Amino acid sequence: MILPNAWLRERKRDYYYRKAKEEKYRSRASYKLLEVVWKYHFLNEGDVVVDLGAAPGGWLQAARKTVGGEGFVLGVDFNIIQPVEEANVCAIIGDITQPETIKKIKEILPSLADAVISDVSPNVSGVWEVDHARQIELARSSLVIAAEILRLGGNFFVKVFQGDMFDDFISEVKNYFRRVKIIKPKASRAKSAEIFVLGMGMKESQ
Ligand SMILES: C[S@@+](CC[C@H](N)C(=O)[O-])C[C@H]1O[C@@H](n2cnc3c(N)ncnc32)[C@H](O)[C@@H]1O
Repeated sequence: MILPNAWLRERKRDYYYRKAKEEKYRSRASYKLLEVVWKYHFLNEGDVVVDLGAAPGGWLQAARKTVGGEGFVLGVDFNIIQPVEEANVCAIIGDITQPETIKKIKEILPSLADAVISDVSPNVSGVWEVDHARQIELARSSLVIAAEILRLGGNFFVKVFQGDMFDDFISEVKNYFRRVKIIKPKASRAKSAEIFVLGMGMKESQ
């Protein structure tokens, strides 16, 4: 694939891109997660975390750094995630919309999860309504998984593209979590339609 020069120049100038290179994160997206973790403390040492749509592994590295050696992080993607050096990190190939993937996740986890994080994105078509609808569907699949594998009080962090289905999705998240925040991290480009939803404190029953 030939990338346009202007795009390559802009990427090299980008603060988070350079920081990710320096700190050996696989993607600048790591800082979107870390920024929100530092502010809301929804991932903690020793936590069991499931990372949906995890390739190439930037969030996986950032989550592992946060939960440390006593924690456990499982990455899921339908693309291969290259192995991470640290112990207690596992990656599987799977489509998060498929029931067999949920089954596999449950088999691997050492316990119920403390947090489910999801940066899952569809291949963008460029047609706004289509991309928004696909993204919301993937965010819903992430919520279904979270509802099945989180412990009571557990946390959920998910990327969504803004659009007319956004409010309905927020209402669904509110059914499951005591506190819900809508966040645009600094590391997320202003021109990007992405926004993040943080559900804290999984409720007892919906
Ligand atoms: C923006 S990338 C994730 C970047 C990652 N958080 C990081 O920091 O490296 C979105 C990922 O979602 C994955 N994806 C999209 N649809 C999926 C699905 N149905 N099941 C599993 N993964 C999916 C894509 O393969 C892609 O790797």
